[in-house]
Parts: sequence; structure tokens; C-alpha cells
Amino acid sequence: MDIRVEEIADWSALYAICEAAFRQSGEADLVRRLHDDGELTLSLVAYADKPAGHVAFSRLTLHGTPDLKGCALAPLAVAPEFQRQGVGSVLVRLGIERLRADGYDLVLVLGEPDYYARFGFTPGLATQMKTPYEGPYLQALALSERGKNAHGPVSYARAFAELK
Ligand SMILES: CC(C)(COP(=O)(O)OP(=O)(O)OC[C@H]1O[C@@H](n2cnc3c(N)ncnc32)[C@H](O)[C@@H]1OP(=O)(O)O)[C@@H](O)C(=O)NCCC(=O)NCCS
Repeated sequence: MDIRVEEIADWSALYAICEAAFRQSGEADLVRRLHDDGELTLSLVAYADKPAGHVAFSRLTLHGTPDLKGCALAPLAVAPEFQRQGVGSVLVRLGIERLRADGYDLVLVLGEPDYYARFGFTPGLATQMKTPYEGPYLQALALSERGKNAHGPVSYARAFAELK
């Protein structure tokens, strides 16, 4: 499995993976808007013999702790024929590693707690923040000691407001 930063030539395959994984186009449209708006912090593609999965991380503004660097993980999509083979886990782990190396302090995700707990995401940390997405599906991972102090209102990239 080869993981690399997304390139423009990957886009039609990534859109198709996202649409097939979610069985709707909302998340695929989200990632395209994030890309078009220049809001993607990191976008990684997993290749087997063809594109197998994709993870996007986008800008977050942490108004309560503006000196901290935060981003949102979404969407994460693995093509149906490649699911449950570790592709999603590799994408998330490598993404987190790169963001930490780039000086990011915090990642927020909205997703299945049973899945994201394995990477260290917890709903507890997320309750310190005020976002449009409250509840147990909202989870946070601190990438630095400073990240544990993140609190207050959070703004997501504009494309999230348009997600259906
Ligand atoms: C969720 C998804 C990204 C996981 O990627 P993957 O490559 O299939 O997952 P991995 O092989 O890395 O991990 C498999 C493990 O995750 C678990 N898992 C997969 N999807 C899960 C889900 N929705 N909820 C809870 N656990 C899940 C599996 O049971 C398996 O557990 P095990 O390791 O204990 O056996 C992928 O299945 C997918 O694209 N699903 C559709 C889109 C989606 O729901 N994206 C996530 C949005 S938050």
C-alpha cells in the first residue's frame, strides 16, 4: 500500500471513492469544495494497484485559543472493495503523524467513536469546544500538550456549512 499526497490527476478517482463509500455525493462534494476553496490542510491518497482510499484534513479556527493550530478530519473514505483491510487506519495514522510533524496541536473528527478511539480520539476533549456538531460523535485528539488546552468556539471551513 502506497500513501501519498493527493495530486490533481487523482481527483476523479477520489470523488468516485467517496461517493461509493458513503453511497451518496454529499461527502464527495464536501471534499471538492474544500479543495476548490483552498481549505485543505492535508489530503492523502492510498494506492493499492489503483486508488483505494482518501482522507482529507481541513482548516479549523480555534477562537478561544487562536495561537493553536487545529484541523478537521473529514471525509475519510475507503473504496468498498478495499474496506476492512487496514486502509482507513493507515491513512488516519499517517495523516496524524504528518500533522504533528507540521506543528498542529489538535484534530477534530465527527464519526463513529468505536472507530476513532483506536487512534486516540476522545469525546471528552471535544466538549471543551463549541462547534456546530455537539454530541458523542464529535471527538478530538490533542497532538501536543498545548492542544489539550484548546477550548471555546471553533469555526470549520465554509464548505461544511453546505454539507447536506
Ligand atoms: C469507515 C472506513 C473509513 C474504515 O476504513 P477501513 O479501511 O474499512 O477500516 P480499517 O480496515 O482501517 O479498520 C477496520 C476496523 O474498523 C472497524 N470499522 C470499520 N467501519 C466502522 C464503523 N463505521 N464503525 C465502527 N467500526 C468500524 C472494523 O470493524 C474493523 O475493526 P477491527 O480492526 O476491530 O476488526 C471505511 O469503511 C469507509 O470508507 N466507510 C464508508 C464511509 C465512512 O463511513 N467514513 C467514515 C466517516 S466518519
